[in-house]
Amino acid sequence: MTQKEMIDLKEYLKLHYKDYDDGVFLSGKTGYWSNLSEKKNKEFYKILEKNDCKTAVKSFMPQFEEMIFSSKREAALELLDHSKQGICIDYGSMWGVLSVGMAKRGHHIIAVDQTYDSLKFLKLRATEESLENIHLVNDDIRDVNFKNIADYALVNGVLEWIPETSEVVVDDYFKKSSSLKKEKKSNQILKKPREMQISFLKKVYESLKKEGQLLLAIENKLHYGYLLGQPDPHVNLKFTTFLPRNLSNIISRVFRKKDYRTHIYSFSELKALLREAGFSKIDDFCCFPMYHFPSLIVPNSKEGIRQYETYENKDIITWKQKLVFRYFEIFLMKYLKARNFCPSIIIVATK
Ligand SMILES: C[S@@+](CC[C@H](N)C(=O)[O-])C[C@H]1O[C@@H](n2cnc3c(N)ncnc32)[C@H](O)[C@@H]1O
Repeated sequence: MTQKEMIDLKEYLKLHYKDYDDGVFLSGKTGYWSNLSEKKNKEFYKILEKNDCKTAVKSFMPQFEEMIFSSKREAALELLDHSKQGICIDYGSMWGVLSVGMAKRGHHIIAVDQTYDSLKFLKLRATEESLENIHLVNDDIRDVNFKNIADYALVNGVLEWIPETSEVVVDDYFKKSSSLKKEKKSNQILKKPREMQISFLKKVYESLKKEGQLLLAIENKLHYGYLLGQPDPHVNLKFTTFLPRNLSNIISRVFRKKDYRTHIYSFSELKALLREAGFSKIDDFCCFPMYHFPSLIVPNSKEGIRQYETYENKDIITWKQKLVFRYFEIFLMKYLKARNFCPSIIIVATK
């Protein structure tokens, strides 16, 4: 894609968004989903005023350094066809690790997120790294209206959050507390999680050009770990990922005073969702140990799972973790070939 086309992308966004401030197109619709509270984000930006992004992250939140900068997080991008440069929409880009990955591969990025603070960070990082091909949009991805523009769409760790309308500060959200009253009121007007996810995926589908590729990553609801009692990573409750939804809802209302809305799926359910959204060519992959930091990605097929091999996993520390997440996983995947119980799912779907 030429420099002229890159400028056209900015022009295209100007048509959709009248307001533009400090490098971010503004829709007026904002939300909040972050690992940091708003107060912490303010403190972080004070440090960013005097430091480059990496130094600021290292000193203020070293626990997120890898999450933000590690190129290992980009592994799934290699499943896409990069033979030509194109336009990529990163839906729910957050701090932008995948936007940066795609920009470095020569593509032109529209990074959309509801959380202005996260986009501000990505803006600073893009400027520092001279990535002029990243355009930022502060909008609700359930409402965007991009049509036939993208060669790639990224939905990484985002689909499950689509039905969630309350603000999320990750650590607080995991605590089992929330205002039932507030939730009850908002839920009256909310559609069912699956319906909201399909209508979002339809928007993603519409945003792609013909032959455009969607890369989607999400936890597998049948991950053997969840079956063995590892808590649902979205709500910190056991068994909610795979129990019938109405039962998970009751558990969530009892322990969190809140409906269970962060629905995740099995391979077949997720593919059905994508087909309903319009996608017909869908390739699925098993990802280990989790899509956030993929160490091993193999096709979800009989032949694919034969490629399973042990991999490095820094999170395995205790003997119990070793027993379950190394030896039991080897037994399941290598010997039983039980790929439908792998930890997470990556999909490449083509329009
Ligand atoms: C788990 S993070 C995923 C971050 C990123 N895709 C990555 O792989 O690092 C979820 C992100 O999706 C964004 N998000 C969730 N629902 C959204 C919505 N309705 N509109 C815009 N952004 C949303 C959140 O603000 C958050 O930044």
